[in-house]
Amino acid sequence: MVPNGAVRARKYLDDGRGEVVELPAGDVTVGVIRIGETVRRPHQEQSWAVATYLDHLASVGFTIDGLPASPRFLGLDPEGRDTLSFIPGDVAGAELEPWVLTDALLESVALLVTALHHASAAFEPITEPFPPREIAQDPFELVTHLDVTPQNVVVRDGRAVGLVDFDLAGPSTRFIDSVNTAMHWVPLRDPVDLPASSRGLDQLARLKIFADASAWTTSERRMFARFAAGRAALSWRRMRLRAESGGGWARMWQEGVGDVIERRRLWLLDRETAIGRALLSPG
Ligand SMILES: Nc1ncnc2c1ncn2[C@@H]1O[C@H](COP(=O)(O)OP(=O)(O)OP(=O)(O)O)[C@@H](O)[C@H]1O
Ligand SMILES: [Mg+2]
Repeated sequence: MVPNGAVRARKYLDDGRGEVVELPAGDVTVGVIRIGETVRRPHQEQSWAVATYLDHLASVGFTIDGLPASPRFLGLDPEGRDTLSFIPGDVAGAELEPWVLTDALLESVALLVTALHHASAAFEPITEPFPPREIAQDPFELVTHLDVTPQNVVVRDGRAVGLVDFDLAGPSTRFIDSVNTAMHWVPLRDPVDLPASSRGLDQLARLKIFADASAWTTSERRMFARFAAGRAALSWRRMRLRAESGGGWARMWQEGVGDVIERRRLWLLDRETAIGRALLSPG
């Protein structure tokens, strides 16, 4: 664990070299750019806590194929931006391309998240507490990513090899992080909310692939549909509260993200039996 002051004192001396490349915009953070082998992001409230977590992941060797699977926090550049190492590979855009939707990639995402959980287990966030969740703090089993969307996973050769954008990282449980990841990657949505590119997917078959690769227990499989529906209800309340702070959250709410979450909740509950059967089927 790196002491508080050591992280805060870290400066990245920009040598001015390296091509400036704009990175695909997400929903919330404005102004993420790449300069050479670094990524610059606006400094945020949680940046120091995230920095200590990224230091921990590097110190325990969170790597895939010998390469870092999470960015290094390099320090603040002269303009006061967070500077992180760039992880080479492909990342999905807002419209999911066919290569993002293969079963092999889905399986590798589950394995990457499991590897993250192993790497995170011994991390104690003592000196840099993460901001508390606004509503219903999750139980604290470990610190983990909590936002493993297709736009936050780096892919090489059709396999998930890196995680970026640790803005929502914080204390939670393995299973919550895993359920949240399944929701984004299977994806678990009412089919009316699926983009055209995802419409032909067999959602229950993909959920089973994800559950098997994540080694979910029998009881986790049994409770999954209800548990995920409960998380959807919580996420609706959190999103509504964040929307009050304006910016990207407010725009997402205006665009109907709350309705999408509520349809997901109902879709999960309507299919509770079928989902349980798929998850508990042999093979
Ligand atoms: N360290 C990194 N290595 C490789 N690519 C990165 C890295 N950080 C960001 N990217 C790329 O830039 C994109 C946007 O960065 P990031 O996910 O950090 O911010 P964001 O999604 O805009 O933020 P938010 O989710 O808070 O709105 C990512 O989807 C990814 O393509
Ligand atoms: Mg992102």
